[in-house]
Amino acid sequence: MAKDTLTITDNRTGQNYEVPIEDGTIKAIDLRQIKVSSDDFGLMTYDPAFMNTAACRSAITYIDGDRGILRYRGYPIEQLAEQASFLEVAYLLGEGELPTRAQLDTWTETIKFHTYVHTNITKFLEGFRYDAHPMGMMLGAVGALSTFYPDAKNIHDPANRYLQRVRLLAKGPTIAAFAFRHSRGLPFVFPDNDLDYIGNFVNMTFSIGGRHKANKVLQRALEILLILHADHEQNCSTSAVRAVGSSHVDPFSAISAGIAALYGPLHGGANEAVLLMLDEIGEKKNIPKFIEEVKAGRGRLMGFGHRVYKSYDPRAKLIKRVADDVFRETGLNPKLEIALELERIALEDEYFIKRKLYPNVDFYSGLIYQAMGYPTEYFTVLFALGRMPGWLAQWEEMLLDKDQKIARPRQVFIGHGERPFVPIDKR
Ligand code: CMC
Repeated sequence: MAKDTLTITDNRTGQNYEVPIEDGTIKAIDLRQIKVSSDDFGLMTYDPAFMNTAACRSAITYIDGDRGILRYRGYPIEQLAEQASFLEVAYLLGEGELPTRAQLDTWTETIKFHTYVHTNITKFLEGFRYDAHPMGMMLGAVGALSTFYPDAKNIHDPANRYLQRVRLLAKGPTIAAFAFRHSRGLPFVFPDNDLDYIGNFVNMTFSIGGRHKANKVLQRALEILLILHADHEQNCSTSAVRAVGSSHVDPFSAISAGIAALYGPLHGGANEAVLLMLDEIGEKKNIPKFIEEVKAGRGRLMGFGHRVYKSYDPRAKLIKRVADDVFRETGLNPKLEIALELERIALEDEYFIKRKLYPNVDFYSGLIYQAMGYPTEYFTVLFALGRMPGWLAQWEEMLLDKDQKIARPRQVFIGHGERPFVPIDKR
């Protein structure tokens, strides 16, 4: 009869071992019993970049990368993008269920209540250089929030964790907007609690001489983009939040680690890199040469490829639709033509087909953000605002997971054996 176990023969010793298979995985620690002698440490797996290692059990986000499926708590991303608000999605990710009307009203009011930041935060944001990258400001300011809320260290109290999650969701847009205003030399605009979550953020970024005139189509487009970015299971930044959070540091510090990870051009910074790439290409006629350079290993086609998706990223499909709505309002982004042509050529090219490289979420998002009036270096900040509910839900799940301990990978040591210290005049 078939058994849910794996039998391993160690050809060094001829010994057989049987290890259980659960949820399509074996426990790496079960390999430790495989030894050549009693003083042998035991077998480990070598998995740089966690290509084939599940680091947790999670009930938050499901991805099927081959079939292009993404679900938050079981709900397809397409339905959430079409029908839910961002705060509804944030509630769903954090609490596990969609809120009732009453729960959503309370949740919305609670978030509103916490949108203000201590005015000292404006002082140190002012200390950044005029050309400071807004992601750098964001990660610094979010990390610094831990000094304003020392109670956040009490991570073992569920009510306290809830309060800090609310604070991060509520104050994230305020800090992000302040970073935007600082880059432009504009005075900070404080939260306006008569506005909804998205409206308030847009007002804090764009208002000049009175409340910003809302464009509902653009605001809904921004809201959809935030929903599409809200979680993506164990990506680089979420893994950073989990790893740093596993030391039981406060959530502001853990989330700032996530923001730092997202900053990189292979992760959230890709939307910025796409625009820089489109600028570099400049004209449609330069695309074939650019593609040849990429294929020769000189640079990457930014906004293409994904560790998990080996078919069209479902978020990229939805974003294309959002782009249509936005460009109808703002007029076409002239770089769209280059992007569309780049996509067409790449999707027909053997190099990209063979490697299953398709447009990812970042390929079109930057074009939309640019049309909305956000500067290139601000795109990743918008990604961070979107990802906040996911980071927080994953942080909470990690803390409640009895299997988790402080994250501490092993290494295969390949350096020198012991050698005697050489005094400086003998080197
Ligand atoms: N352009 C050209 N070649 C690529 C690209 C690309 N964008 N992505 C992967 N490849 C090639 C790569 O050179 C390698 O080829 P070979 O087998 O000949 O060595 C093969 O495809 C596999 O690449 P990999 O680097 O092993 O794949 P990975 O899973 O480690 O990388 C990735 C995933 C997203 C980092 C990568 O596809 C990439 O660098 N893409 C561009 C940056 C980007 O758009 N990032 C945003 C990701 S989606 C948003 C997010 O979640 O942050």
